[in-house]
Amino acid sequence: MLTTPRNNLNKVLILNPKGGCGKSTLATNLAARYAQTGPAPTMMDYDPQGSSMAWLERRPGDSPKIHGIAAFKNSMHATRSWQLRVPSETVNLVIDSPAGVDHHDLRELTRDATSILVPVLPSAMDIHAASRCIADLLLVAKIDRRDRKLAVVANRTRKNTKSFAKLMRFLDSLGIPIISVLRDSQNFVHAAEQGLGVCEMQPSRVKTDLEQILRIVEWLDAWPERRQDRASVSNIERKPRFGPGMLRRQTVGSV
Ligand SMILES: Nc1ncnc2c1ncn2[C@@H]1O[C@H](COP(=O)(O)OP(=O)(O)OP(=O)(O)O)[C@@H](O)[C@H]1O
Ligand SMILES: [Mg+2]
Repeated sequence: MLTTPRNNLNKVLILNPKGGCGKSTLATNLAARYAQTGPAPTMMDYDPQGSSMAWLERRPGDSPKIHGIAAFKNSMHATRSWQLRVPSETVNLVIDSPAGVDHHDLRELTRDATSILVPVLPSAMDIHAASRCIADLLLVAKIDRRDRKLAVVANRTRKNTKSFAKLMRFLDSLGIPIISVLRDSQNFVHAAEQGLGVCEMQPSRVKTDLEQILRIVEWLDAWPERRQDRASVSNIERKPRFGPGMLRRQTVGSV
């Protein structure tokens, strides 16, 4: 990614190469919430399907402003760095990524991210794919778990299923938090159709879903504290880093 690094920029990457796990749903709901509460956020869409950009186009004209950057497009008329330029007033940048990201793009996308959210559906196949995604983040993108940048959002979940319990145990063994559990809810579908986030729907209808979105925002907004904590413990903590051996011991099949 060619965005110039900025110290005060909250760069939230939504990532999971598995299709349909809720990346765009999460990206649009976070952008809508940031738009409601602060200066206009920027949403960057790296997915050639352009779901987040299409959502932005459906957004009613009187809704709080969100800047959109269609990062998947190759502009003939602008340099890449100009195309990906984040407006200076932006404090919160939300990045929607495509299904299937190669190692090079993974390194580029994760560079300078303050938080990385992995939405996961609670099926055996999705959990397996998510464990590979997390392994790639740790081993290829070299995300250090001690930075506490990485979190999972369980999506379309029925909490008391076996697969959910499996997912919880797996993540627990890696020390990665599940910061929110989104239920399977038509509120997300209806909001998406209208170019809105659930925070912009009738409050009494979306209470449960909005609570979960707000939990995510609360965790995201604590990124300066997480960074600060990391800096203060980095000299004392000597826990082993995640390595290939650990990955073999901790595959989902073994949890
Ligand atoms: N919690 C939810 N409840 C109900 N429907 C949901 C929920 N989350 C996502 N969906 C629906 O599931 C479908 C896939 O979600 P979404 O497009 O967000 O996934 P994605 O990871 O961005 O997919 P892709 O990899 O194709 O970009 C959409 O139709 C969306 O409205
Ligand atoms: Mg998408």
